[in-house]
Amino acid sequence: MNEFYQKDVISIKDFNKEKLEKIFASTDRIIQLNPTERREICKGKTLGYLFYEPSTRTRLSFESAMASIGGNSLGISDISSSSTQKGESLADTVRIMSIYSDVLVLRHPLDGSSRFASEISEKPVINAGSGTEEHPTQAIQDLFTIKKEKKKIDGLKIGIVGDLKYGRTVYSLLYGLGNYDVDVHLISPESLRIRSDSTYEIKKRLEFTESTNIEDHIDELDVLYVTRIQKERFPDEEEYLKVKGSYVVGLDLLKQMKDDSIILHPLPRIDEISAEVDQTKNAKYFEQAEYGKHTRAALLGLTLNENDF
Ligand code: CP
Repeated sequence: MNEFYQKDVISIKDFNKEKLEKIFASTDRIIQLNPTERREICKGKTLGYLFYEPSTRTRLSFESAMASIGGNSLGISDISSSSTQKGESLADTVRIMSIYSDVLVLRHPLDGSSRFASEISEKPVINAGSGTEEHPTQAIQDLFTIKKEKKKIDGLKIGIVGDLKYGRTVYSLLYGLGNYDVDVHLISPESLRIRSDSTYEIKKRLEFTESTNIEDHIDELDVLYVTRIQKERFPDEEEYLKVKGSYVVGLDLLKQMKDDSIILHPLPRIDEISAEVDQTKNAKYFEQAEYGKHTRAALLGLTLNENDF
């Protein structure tokens, strides 16, 4: 039996290199199949989604992925239009959604929310972002993008810049990168360094340097992963204003980078990558968003099929 069948996807920490490579191979297969063959993979299956926070890419790529493999989607993207407004609990909402669907995709502002939902749901739960904690399917997409664009992950030098305190994609990416032999440089304002409660866990998996200066290792990097300062997660707007616009990746910075380096961003971006960078061969964040559809299609196919497809 395929090892992903009916399994929750809560944390990227549960994915070793072998599992990640299995998803990457399934993603490659999905890309190669013709549309008719692809639509057989989840024919007649239903994805249910619950988004308690805004989303463009994650929700739409899940919907688009499910449609591409023959399934359908239903869900709540505007929680104010749901019975949550009448006081219905997350537990009851999850219970109901798991009656109507074969797999449940949840985004929620609280750490631990997806784990909680998985204990209630009779159907597998996929974490689409839980507080500041994790965004595992984003990490799968990020690692797949690196592998496709750089032809490898082992041996790369990877810089991660921006809001390392509140950015959940950073944590999932770091845990995922822990399966590979990489050099990691973390760049952030002093107040947005990775959280000390997670440092021990990350250090168990990989070694990294920390800096406030984006130029410190810029000429060595193979990958620069840029993140947005997460305004909505700051308890105090004054603190946000102190770090707003700390880093802007523009053509001047790009000139200092290796010719074949790539720039990634989980998106949405605000002002941390100049629009002029979009036209360069180094900008791979829109490809990254496209890979997100295919990696999610592979994950859904593996979750909902007893045998490999
Ligand atoms: N990268 C990401 O999670 O984007 P959305 O918030 O638009 O889903």
